[in-house]
Amino acid sequence: MDACGLTVPPSRLRTLAVRATTRREVRPVPPRRGLVRPTATGLRVRLRLAPGQEVADLAAATERLRHAWSVHAVHVAEIKPGVAELRLVGFDVLNDVRMPRTGGGGGLLRVPVALREDATPFVRDYRTVPHQLTLGATLSGKSMYLRHMVAGLAPQRVALVGIDCKRGVELAPFAPRLSALATDPAETGELLPALVALMEERYDLIRARQRHDGATSDVWGLPEEERPVPVVVFVDEVAELFLTATRKDEERRDELVTHLVRLAQLGRAAGIYLEVCGQRFGAELGKGATMLRAQLTGRVCHRVNDEASAKMALGDIAPEAVMAACTIPAERPGLAVAADSSGRWTRVRTPYLSLTDAATHCAIHAYRAPTLPSLARFRPVASTAVESESTGS
Ligand SMILES: Nc1ncnc2c1ncn2[C@@H]1O[C@H](COP(=O)(O)OP(=O)(O)OP(=O)(O)O)[C@@H](O)[C@H]1O
Ligand SMILES: [Mg+2]
Repeated sequence: MDACGLTVPPSRLRTLAVRATTRREVRPVPPRRGLVRPTATGLRVRLRLAPGQEVADLAAATERLRHAWSVHAVHVAEIKPGVAELRLVGFDVLNDVRMPRTGGGGGLLRVPVALREDATPFVRDYRTVPHQLTLGATLSGKSMYLRHMVAGLAPQRVALVGIDCKRGVELAPFAPRLSALATDPAETGELLPALVALMEERYDLIRARQRHDGATSDVWGLPEEERPVPVVVFVDEVAELFLTATRKDEERRDELVTHLVRLAQLGRAAGIYLEVCGQRFGAELGKGATMLRAQLTGRVCHRVNDEASAKMALGDIAPEAVMAACTIPAERPGLAVAADSSGRWTRVRTPYLSLTDAATHCAIHAYRAPTLPSLARFRPVASTAVESESTGS
């Protein structure tokens, strides 16, 4: 601790006590150490900070501590005022990602989707971060992230809606579990108004309830038997919705974007959540793009080809994370920088999950797909190949 600059001068009382009882020289005081707990990936140690120290001092010394203790990495987390936890990680956990069995917890609308670099799960929780934007260059692992989200939500009582303008190549394999699917901008143009109508219907329901009894301003305040199922809308390749080839398309595009922005603005209270993926998402996409981006609280940035793209994802909420995102190597798909509007960020990586495994998992849980009458006409027809797999397992 002394070598790493984490000691403070002793108090006067301590100096006097040491001088009175021993002949030792009076040494600087290190932070008081708590129990050392081993974990699957290293150790955890709690430290009580010495007077005058802050967590940032420890964070600044992690590089020195890591070399002093010969470990792969040292991470610091504040537990409560005056107490910090050092997480020593023995090896690079993001190299071959194994999700810990415990931690992260289940619960409705919570999915442990990736592993953080300090070996704790990165949990996507729709109740605290309703909408999220995932950016990254091509082949950076965005669709893998989406795949994990779909697979994680499949066993829960949640309606899943897919918008995949790559003709459905990423989301169509999950068709048995999806309550609605649109695979091109024209279909999306019909699906989004239906979602907005669903949202308005739910607001009417909340309003009706308010007249009866109890005040609630979102679906979670409704009694359980009346509460509508939460809806998670996955949008892969969002830029496709913004791009138009002809002037004639422009009107349709504006309409579509307006619906998407409305869902992002008002969806949360109606239990409608957005999970948006794209390669770039900046002002050059035209009207509505930055407005939509501002509504997406959670940000995950995979490998990007230029700083400008990383800035689109992280620049407006965690500027230091931009540099971290720019240094993600191409040979590590799935590695990303995750941030939220509190300004905190961390490196995360999703485990590998094959499309077949994810599709089988969705087929097994196909019976859980809720039927939403207003979206019924968008319900994808399940492919027979996947259906036979589900009956076989
Ligand atoms: N966490 C991971 N571990 C190992 N391999 C991964 C991981 N994430 C993605 N990959 C691999 O990287 C490749 C690209 O992943 P993915 O399709 O998710 O990228 P993408 O960002 O969606 O690309 P595009 O923009 O072209 O759709 C895939 O072959 C996938 O198997
Ligand atoms: Mg993709």
